[in-house]
Amino acid sequence: MDKNFLIIANWKANNVDAAKFEAPNIEGVEVVIAAPYPTLRNGAQDVSMFPEGAYTGEVPAELLKRHGVKYVLVGHSERRKYLGETTEMVGKKMERVFTAGMTPIVCAQSFDEIPDLAKNIPGDKYGVMFEPFEAISEHGKSNAVSAQTVSATIQQWQGKLPSGVRFLYGGSVNAQNVADYLDVVSGFVVGHASLNQEELYNICLVCRRKI
Ligand code: PGA
Repeated sequence: MDKNFLIIANWKANNVDAAKFEAPNIEGVEVVIAAPYPTLRNGAQDVSMFPEGAYTGEVPAELLKRHGVKYVLVGHSERRKYLGETTEMVGKKMERVFTAGMTPIVCAQSFDEIPDLAKNIPGDKYGVMFEPFEAISEHGKSNAVSAQTVSATIQQWQGKLPSGVRFLYGGSVNAQNVADYLDVVSGFVVGHASLNQEELYNICLVCRRKI
């Protein structure tokens, strides 16, 4: 994680015309496109908690790695809510991603959603995204929480994790509000706003101005 800001475009289960989508290329800003599997690029929204083998429907970490994936979201609140993913499962996924040589981004709403493993691996090998479920945008309507809330939460978590962890914020981030958080985190997971190429570019430009 050597760039100043990390922007992860989380396309979720949207039907984006990925072939036409050009990721922003802006100095100092690393852009990761976490696309659905058929249009996989350098980021993934999920991973199997199992190794390679007979696990129908799953995609193992080794396969993601072979396809050029660098960052993998684990434990997104939508997966916890709609698919019953537990913190124990998230810990297994984190380990798989780490072992395969990629960077897991652990998504959490509270500290107890961060797997214990996070305390035992070097901080510069993973990231943590704070995203309260209620902060997720609804059809483009912003529900972002304040920078103060993000800052207070991250300060608490920082004290309990190894040094060097990159903290990200997710929840209704767009080109209008991203500047509010630039002093607080060094990365963002962007959902709805990342579906629009120009909006994603503008978010990156705001980050660039801060560097
Ligand atoms: P949002 O989604 O930017 O649309 O709020 C972010 C996320 O859930 O990853």
